[in-house]
Amino acid sequence: MRIVVPSETAAGETRVALVPRSITQLASGKVAVAVQTGAGAAAGITDQAFIESGAEVVAEREALLASGDITVVVRRPEAADIRSLREGSVLVGVLEPSGDPATLRALLERNITSFRLEAMPRISRAQDMDVLSSMATLAGYHASVMAAFRLPRLFPLLMTAAGTLTPARVLVLGAGVAGLQAIATCRRLGAVVEAFDVRPAVKEQVESLGARFVEVGIESSEQQDAGGYAKELSQDAVQREHQVLAEHVRESDVVITTAMVPNRRAPTLVTKDMVDAMRPGSVIVDLAAASGGNCEYTEPDKEVRIKGVLILGPTNVPAAVPGQASQLYSHNVTRFLAQILKDGELRLDFDDEVVAQTCMTSEGKARGEQIEALLQGSAA
Ligand code: NAI
Repeated sequence: MRIVVPSETAAGETRVALVPRSITQLASGKVAVAVQTGAGAAAGITDQAFIESGAEVVAEREALLASGDITVVVRRPEAADIRSLREGSVLVGVLEPSGDPATLRALLERNITSFRLEAMPRISRAQDMDVLSSMATLAGYHASVMAAFRLPRLFPLLMTAAGTLTPARVLVLGAGVAGLQAIATCRRLGAVVEAFDVRPAVKEQVESLGARFVEVGIESSEQQDAGGYAKELSQDAVQREHQVLAEHVRESDVVITTAMVPNRRAPTLVTKDMVDAMRPGSVIVDLAAASGGNCEYTEPDKEVRIKGVLILGPTNVPAAVPGQASQLYSHNVTRFLAQILKDGELRLDFDDEVVAQTCMTSEGKARGEQIEALLQGSAA
């Protein structure tokens, strides 16, 4: 069994799919690992470190891709790369097929068995394979640090001989994995933090981190689906949410937004009017920028300044901390590989929800309604 790790090619991507520590665990008499020359450079990992962990380092990308039984990536490869993969081999990564049906078709043509890690079920048993959670944890931390750095005032209360500095006020919207980490980080930096989420279960978690939960007064029954994810709100509920949030946004120095609804555009939580009413110098970090943004002014990967308010819309925050992002991602991937490999042989159990929900293509067919619909839509 040969596992190969190409360099990432997406613009601004700095992570690498496997780090030396994981390769030491994977490489054995039955499993060999090969890494493209320089694949870890942007994450601070040298070719020598890969060699010392037991990997082979290969310079030629096409030859590397053609030699793998399993190719492990961070981001979806280009269609040209997929055509280089060995026919009938396996691809594992964050494949996000909705952005590019051409990739999906290329996977089917090459008869690749592909696994999209972003579709991992949110169950206790799969926590150590959950790339959305591990990357969201880093994003929540780093968004807080970005906000603290760009805000033209300090976060904590300081009592000095020259006077007292009041703490900054932070509002976190969406208290899932990223939001909770943002709350904890901003609290550690000394800010006074408020937070809101549509899922009622979150209130207790927000309060346990020392933040105040903003009560919006939306009916609790319709806000969460069976999988624990938020649902899209009704028009009435959106209006109510906007009314209550307007006052809290206006009074905040920093707003960090993380609200997402699976397979939908991110909800608008911070309108243009709300931003216009904020104090100059305030900072908004919109972690939902890649899926449309929670703030109406957000532009992906751009800095927007409106009447002195700075709006940041970073779409790949984990890439700003590439060494640790790679470490966590690599651990998630290694745990997933342990599910599909037994004694160095591929063993796929489609009765296992981890395998069934993440598998996107196998035996030349799309798996799951969402993927089939995507293919049909793109063919129409
Ligand atoms: P996410 O990234 O999909 O969304 C972030 C947050 O935005 C969520 O908390 C959501 O409720 C909130 N949101 C959506 N619409 C909103 C609106 N209009 N206003 C305010 N907030 C809004 O969520 P994430 O962080 O991926 O977690 C989703 C769920 O999965 C949670 O229930 C979480 O506890 C669960 N989970 C379970 C895991 C496991 O058991 N393995 C691991 C990670 C998460």
